[in-house]
Amino acid sequence: MKSIKVGLLGIGTVGSGTFNVLKRNQQEIAARAGRGIEITMVADLNTERAKELTNNEVEVVSDANLVVNNPDIDIVIELIGGYGIAKDLVLKAIANGKHVVTANKALIATHGNEIFKAAQEKNVMVAFEAAVAGGIPIIKALREGLTANSIEWIAGIINGTTNFILSEMRDKGLDFDIVLKEAQRLGYAEADPTFDIEGVDAAHKLTIMASIAFGIPVQFDKAHVEGITKLQATDIRYAEQLGYRIKLLGITKRTDAGIELRVHPTLIPASRLIANVEGAMNAVLVRGDAVGETLYYGKGAGAEPTASAVIADLVDITRLATADPEHRVPHLAFQPDAMADTKI
Ligand code: HSE
Repeated sequence: MKSIKVGLLGIGTVGSGTFNVLKRNQQEIAARAGRGIEITMVADLNTERAKELTNNEVEVVSDANLVVNNPDIDIVIELIGGYGIAKDLVLKAIANGKHVVTANKALIATHGNEIFKAAQEKNVMVAFEAAVAGGIPIIKALREGLTANSIEWIAGIINGTTNFILSEMRDKGLDFDIVLKEAQRLGYAEADPTFDIEGVDAAHKLTIMASIAFGIPVQFDKAHVEGITKLQATDIRYAEQLGYRIKLLGITKRTDAGIELRVHPTLIPASRLIANVEGAMNAVLVRGDAVGETLYYGKGAGAEPTASAVIADLVDITRLATADPEHRVPHLAFQPDAMADTKI
């Protein structure tokens, strides 16, 4: 069978990681997907760097429209980030009948409902495993592994930058500003690090998980969002003396009044596993009514961990796209039309 053709929008850290892992594990990935998966076109403003990163093996263009309008492309990977151009390109790709894979949590958390509706109308898939907790397959765990459960709550360390900052402040007694610069140097932080330290990035990811877990539309505007900028070294020290660790948690749960969505610094007994998640690592605890508590741990950012999630989505879509469209399982946990009935 012919390989599935993929167009990549934006080849930075995650894009080049995706290109490299796809190439390195080409045969295993093809065996699992049922056919080959090939990046045939890359759009990036820096065409010279893009050619270098892809060893001159694929067509490189500076205009992303050439990718989303190319009839030979089956799947578009959006790794541009932000809501503006990225949203336009994703909607154009969908309108042109292409499946979309994105790592863009801000886009899905704020415009997911519109994007999912457009995808449903065109009978194409939109997948976003890489948008939440990097390499941890948490979307698949919620959607597939825990599908028998009524999810009761989720609590997660889903921002590596803030976890790194809190760990370094506690372990080394370093100041907030110094550790933030180090997190930026290591490539954990967002382009605008206020999204990390003010809890916005974690709230984007939490909103997406809640939508999958509870079958509700994405409603980022309903989340309570509080970051770590008001924390001082003394808070961390006192917590330690009392037997607690401070972690920035994203928490979502069912209550009688609706679904709670909140991100804030939380005191956790030091004996709990999740309290001992250090550095830029992520961890997500999920409680289902049948399974009880389950814990997922791993790298929440970085080139190849995030590429691992992007490629898992490519494989998923390839399998489903190759199957009979009549029996295709949509990549959504809710019907976009039902969104008016949801209360948070
Ligand atoms: N800035 C994010 C973090 C990157 O620190 O977790 C991965 O989403």
